[in-house]
Amino acid sequence: MLIKPVKRIRKNIAIPGDKSISHRAIILSSIADGESKIHNFLMGDDCLNTIKCFRKMGVPIEVNPENIFVKGVGLRGLKKPDEILDVGNSGTTFRLICGILAGQDFETTITGDNSIQGRPMDRIIRPLDQMGAKISGIDNRAPLKIQGSKLKAINYNMPVASAQVKSAILLASLYADSETTIVELEETRDHTERMLNYMGANIQQSGLSIISSPTKKLYAKDIHVPGDISSAAFFMVLGAITKDAEITIENVGLNPTRTGIIDVLKQMGAEIRVYNERILSGEPVANVTVSSSSLKGIEIGGGIIPRLIDEIPVIAVAAAFAEGVTVIRNAEELKIKESNRIKSVVTQLAKIGANIKGTEDGMIIHGTKELKGGKIECYGDHRIAMAFAIAGLVSEEGVTIDDPRCVNISFPNFFNILHGVVQNES
Ligand code: S3P
Repeated sequence: MLIKPVKRIRKNIAIPGDKSISHRAIILSSIADGESKIHNFLMGDDCLNTIKCFRKMGVPIEVNPENIFVKGVGLRGLKKPDEILDVGNSGTTFRLICGILAGQDFETTITGDNSIQGRPMDRIIRPLDQMGAKISGIDNRAPLKIQGSKLKAINYNMPVASAQVKSAILLASLYADSETTIVELEETRDHTERMLNYMGANIQQSGLSIISSPTKKLYAKDIHVPGDISSAAFFMVLGAITKDAEITIENVGLNPTRTGIIDVLKQMGAEIRVYNERILSGEPVANVTVSSSSLKGIEIGGGIIPRLIDEIPVIAVAAAFAEGVTVIRNAEELKIKESNRIKSVVTQLAKIGANIKGTEDGMIIHGTKELKGGKIECYGDHRIAMAFAIAGLVSEEGVTIDDPRCVNISFPNFFNILHGVVQNES
């Protein structure tokens, strides 16, 4: 697919539901008592795979164009699936479900696609093993066989900053014999904690410590999923780096553990306005307007990294259009995402004309304020495909993306919305 340069960007858009929150809505509603109704659920491949896995464990889930209805089976009501659970490309589905499977009274095998089979799972195996689950897999990678057990509570100091690992432990803690304490390395997204409390659990957060007390049951709820800030990020950057642009993104989830992209764009000098702030199902939401900006290079590292980890590919595109140097460090986790995102971003941005160099834990970009364009490979990685679509719109000759369909993983109507914001007549 060729993405051609654009003259002008104008539009109010709404982006699809948050991926992290959509996964958690299915997972927690499945083990709650009663029927939950989920609004603005993300119909992306990853979240649909979460639905498939819970259906295989006996949870009735009705998918309608507007809403999802989940008839929760209660904490102890899941059934042993007849088949292997297959999460496709979804690391969140894999790691979070392992936390639940650890506490069941049956054995399950769980796997995913080639990318999932190459991603590290020892990060969840270690704590779940300490809690008493028996998990085995060659080299600690998918497929994993999980023998559920009666779980004991643990005190766990997280060796990595990962919301997926934290969430797997929190979900297992629902089945543990007493209070579980987790101490994070850096603060990571807290959607699991928020939704658990919204559904009646008792999770206390204080600084980097999280304490989960045993719960008898979760209560079904109406869950309104906010728009995904990670999807909005592509349009925020597009608004900032296009010469003639103003774009408003409505109903964006602004959980403070996710808003690193806004902090960074503001620090780079972007014209961003956040307004109409409100709370939806326990999560902050607002509208965001971004217009053409003169960006400057900055240093990005430390505690902000987990707050923008998924946005780094498109931040690199913004940095190519900034004045001066942008340095991204402490982002080694990028190497174990859907693709090795340090390698994917650096090799492909260099291919289309950026001055960019990879480092052990990030990248250095010398802004040139222009990109020539060309053909790129996205390694089947949805966020790489979308970041380079944005690059294509502001390039001189356009960018051709080898596998545009992979955007379905997190943002199925990405190209339609992109098409809608573009104005090419003068
Ligand atoms: C996610 C957490 C992050 C993020 C991923 C979704 C989640 O991964 O990169 O896209 O929903 O918990 P880690 O927590 O492993 O960094």
